[in-house]
Amino acid sequence: MAILSGKTVLLIIGGGIAAYKSLELIRLLKKRGVRVRCIMTRASEEFVTPLSVASLTGEKVHGELFNLTDEVEMGHIEFSRAADLLVVAPATADLMAKMAHGNANDLASTTLLATDKRVLIAPAMNVRMWTHAATIRNLAQLKADGVLVVGPNDGEMACGEYGPGRMAEPAEIITAIEADLQTSPRLLAGKKVLITAGPTHEAIDPVRYIANYSSGKQGYALAEAAVALGAETILVSGPVALPIPPGVQMIPVTSAVEMLEACQREIPCDIAIFAAAVADWRMGAPARQKIKKDAQALPSLQLVENPDILMTVAKAEAKRPKIVIGFAAETENLLANARAKLKKKGCDLMVANDVSAGRGVFGGDRNTVHLVTEAGTESWEHLTKLDVAKRLMDRFTSMLKDKT
Ligand code: PMT
Repeated sequence: MAILSGKTVLLIIGGGIAAYKSLELIRLLKKRGVRVRCIMTRASEEFVTPLSVASLTGEKVHGELFNLTDEVEMGHIEFSRAADLLVVAPATADLMAKMAHGNANDLASTTLLATDKRVLIAPAMNVRMWTHAATIRNLAQLKADGVLVVGPNDGEMACGEYGPGRMAEPAEIITAIEADLQTSPRLLAGKKVLITAGPTHEAIDPVRYIANYSSGKQGYALAEAAVALGAETILVSGPVALPIPPGVQMIPVTSAVEMLEACQREIPCDIAIFAAAVADWRMGAPARQKIKKDAQALPSLQLVENPDILMTVAKAEAKRPKIVIGFAAETENLLANARAKLKKKGCDLMVANDVSAGRGVFGGDRNTVHLVTEAGTESWEHLTKLDVAKRLMDRFTSMLKDKT
């Protein structure tokens, strides 16, 4: 019960027969000390009345996007800003489709598109709608976007058919809400965490670049873990094909020079983590036009060294973050090289990982890391990148606590 006490849930009630269960959900949330604010879609008002919802929540119920008073007083952005979690129950096929495609044509869908908070959906619909290829596609997209899903359950449906599509019971939705908010002991609330991720692209000419195999997965997982601890999380990301984790402020960059400039704008901060695979070199002068293939000679690429972002930030004196973490990506002499980099770059801890071909670290979902400090080395087992990130963030949080 204590997990939810004092939290705010923004409940979006979709238009389906299961909407009646949202009243019980509100009752259970209120019993646990949760402030519940509600948005009702127009269709949901056919199933439960705004008056019942307002009576149970003790709050005004919102339904119209263009209610000028609401827009002036709070607006759809403020709705989600004040919430710890957005819950969509029931999440109809139509609402899921709108969310998956980023449609925003009423208050519910506009709020869902404008939010940077985590969203939990409790789908409910006819079994044929649930198993339709379009819903399967939309669900996969929503999961890829980081949306949490509870249910649906199997059972007899209001329409008389049997199968998956019944909305999860309110008690199950409460368990899912608790599971999410429980994993977020906001130990980094009020702290700022800067993370770099992904590769950098260094232009050779307008159509070619130097890059590496980094997917950004390890850095994005760190950002997700930092947000879960309540940190203001700035993710400076090279070009990757990943969704931005909810709650993260992402600054897209392309080259190492741009990444350095973005990082310099964001310091000082409490913790800075350099997980990006920054290109060590760039073209001294990228060609202004596409370099033509010449049968006589190969083009000569004159490279210059890129600035070392980690080292610049770690040695930024007054602006140095309280904790500076580097990653060492090596294909040989992993620990010796990591120790040398720890010293040379002036960071507090170096996370060493072996990126040899065949290890599956670049682009994969798992990693084996070694934590290298002046005191020694600690090796962890093979874990998912998210588990690595969560454990690392716990470690960095303790380091910050010890330092302040
Ligand atoms: O993105 P994924 O596919 O999930 O893969 C994860 C990863 C292998 C990229 C990640 O775990 C990792 O090891 N990141 C660091 C990669 C790297 O460039 O390592 P390095 O040993 O070359 O550099 C050491 C440190 O200096 C790194 O923290 C790097 O971000 C930083 N650096 C390097 C060069 C430079 N010009 N500026 C830097 O800040």
